[in-house]
Amino acid sequence: MIEYLNIPAIPKDIEMALIDCALSLIDREGYATGPSIIDEMTSHYKNISLRRTFRHFKLQDTLIESRFREFILSHFGKEKEPLFIIINNTQDEPAIFPPHNDYARIIALNYILVAGGDNVTTSFYTGPEVDRLNNRFYTLDEIQLISRVRIDVGRWHTFNAQCIHSVENLLNTRILVAIIKS
Ligand SMILES: [Fe+2]
Repeated sequence: MIEYLNIPAIPKDIEMALIDCALSLIDREGYATGPSIIDEMTSHYKNISLRRTFRHFKLQDTLIESRFREFILSHFGKEKEPLFIIINNTQDEPAIFPPHNDYARIIALNYILVAGGDNVTTSFYTGPEVDRLNNRFYTLDEIQLISRVRIDVGRWHTFNAQCIHSVENLLNTRILVAIIKS
């Protein structure tokens, strides 16, 4: 389900700047996704206290920022831009980001900066026909597990974001760079 791409890892100093920047965004106003997503999540899955955001960003260090933009340009072209995906578990026990299909994209193109736990896995399911523009969370009784993988940190990878998927065993904060069409 996951395909690793033959694209080099982000240089370490840039990775560190990205992680610092992502962590600084947490708890700022406007961080959390809208109330509808949270409400829907908690109505299906009790005891989840989890927030996710997709964020454009700018690094404080302008030299590192331009090196990162150059890295993205050289490997993905000028029509692509990076976003942060930050999933923040705000409870004291492991959380699941419930099964869903993505709203924003058909194909995911991601790079994990911080896993968010030692055994965070991504699961893929078969289930009802999905509607990208009306995406939702699915309950476990309407889907069937196809595969479960622990995606490597620090490797560009891609998967079909319209295949229903979930993320489990989230302990703290998971930080990804996602490449989207600008
Ligand atoms: Fe997703």
